[in-house]
Amino acid sequence: MKKKDIIEFEVDKMEFGGTSVSLLGNREIHMKGGITGQKIKAAVKRTRSGKADVKMLELLEKSPIETEETCEHFNECGGCSILSVPYQKQLEIKEKQVMDLFLKQDLFGFQFLGIEGSPQDKLYRNKMEYTFGDEMKDGPLTLGLHKKGRHIDIMTVDGCLLVDQDFIKVLTTTVDYFNKKELPYYRTVNHKGYLRNLVVRKGINTKEMMVNIVTSSQIDFDMTEYKETLLSLGLDSELVSILHTINDGLADAVNCDELRVLHGRDYIQEEILGLRFKISPFSFFQTNTKGAEKLYTIAREFVGNHENKVVFDLYSGTGTIGQVMAGAAKKVYGIEIIEEAVVAANENAKLNGLTNCEFIAGDVAKTVKNLKNKPDLIIVDPPRPGVHKDAIRDISGFGAKEIVYISCNPKTLVLDLVEFKNYGYEVEKVKCMDMFPNTPHCETIVKLEKR
Ligand SMILES: C[S@@+](CC[C@H](N)C(=O)[O-])C[C@H]1O[C@@H](n2cnc3c(N)ncnc32)[C@H](O)[C@@H]1O
Repeated sequence: MKKKDIIEFEVDKMEFGGTSVSLLGNREIHMKGGITGQKIKAAVKRTRSGKADVKMLELLEKSPIETEETCEHFNECGGCSILSVPYQKQLEIKEKQVMDLFLKQDLFGFQFLGIEGSPQDKLYRNKMEYTFGDEMKDGPLTLGLHKKGRHIDIMTVDGCLLVDQDFIKVLTTTVDYFNKKELPYYRTVNHKGYLRNLVVRKGINTKEMMVNIVTSSQIDFDMTEYKETLLSLGLDSELVSILHTINDGLADAVNCDELRVLHGRDYIQEEILGLRFKISPFSFFQTNTKGAEKLYTIAREFVGNHENKVVFDLYSGTGTIGQVMAGAAKKVYGIEIIEEAVVAANENAKLNGLTNCEFIAGDVAKTVKNLKNKPDLIIVDPPRPGVHKDAIRDISGFGAKEIVYISCNPKTLVLDLVEFKNYGYEVEKVKCMDMFPNTPHCETIVKLEKR
């Protein structure tokens, strides 16, 4: 087998994160995507001893486990790669994948409590970040998600099953409106153009919606008519916030050079487990509200009795986890790197009548060692790259009896757990919670105890 060869094979094993490994002869075939049982035609990108990396060219035959109805964009859109697999089966696959990651790092001997499904496996997202572009060179303006395996082509996902009809109405209205205005979309290749992104957020329990149109500053366009068009849509939600973000940054990400409030306020509110949270346009908030209620409930169960205890909520975002724990705790300290999220977290605590919470802005790896109070319990909920090694050292240095680790990436989680083990923390119990149905991702909650 050599580079550029075209091969055909059957997918054997799906690995966590959306890759697969199959055996062809005595060679391991590694591929992005693939569902166990699918027959695939692929091109060889690279060979190493006994291994080959390939790129899928064509699905020759569906897998026998692909029995679920899909949306009209499936296979073309890079979004929900396992939508065709029944939800119960998706859960079984994810549970096994996470367990395999633990075993690979010699982590065993703990209580494994399996996986909990999301309360909704469709229409569950409370946030979408759409990109302006086109589907083919010089074609009409599109607004949506990247096509599978493409960096540039964007498809308008107006039949997406991840979000409710309010999202679809805002999406289609926006793309139709700007198509008529013939405004150019921003091209990441030469950094020229105007229309960049549309970010839609919704409080699922409060029905408050935010629409944030993101453009460069290269054209001075009056957004008044666009705002009026959105307000006349007759949505099921209340459009409490329409924003215009100016972003001249070169990175292909939603950043803010200037925020203009076109209508209402610059935040929405969401309610979780009886608490209210103010969500600002750039703050992290779990994207599956009903799933988050389950996730935080599991975290609370893992924490157990925290009556009158000092709790650290590290990587605290808008302060959700800390505040869920604050009712019983003596004091909660949170650390979060995004300043506006910290401001929102402290405001949220006040709004919720919690006087024992203090959220601090900073990088956990640099700031946590400055906390003077000794914690009884530490909760960490880091982003995908996991906890910095310095932070693991400093967190362990407090000697708290218990640490609860909530992770959206079990690959970095298991590496961090090995590091925590070196500081005397053993895994006590583990549970998975599927916050992202139809995608290859899930959350994992781990309780560590100091030995
Ligand atoms: C997975 S989110 C968890 C947020 C929160 N616990 C929740 O459930 O909503 C991770 C958070 O860590 C923050 N973050 C990323 N790197 C950080 C760092 N080095 N120090 C502190 N916070 C960081 C992100 O801004 C984000 O809010």
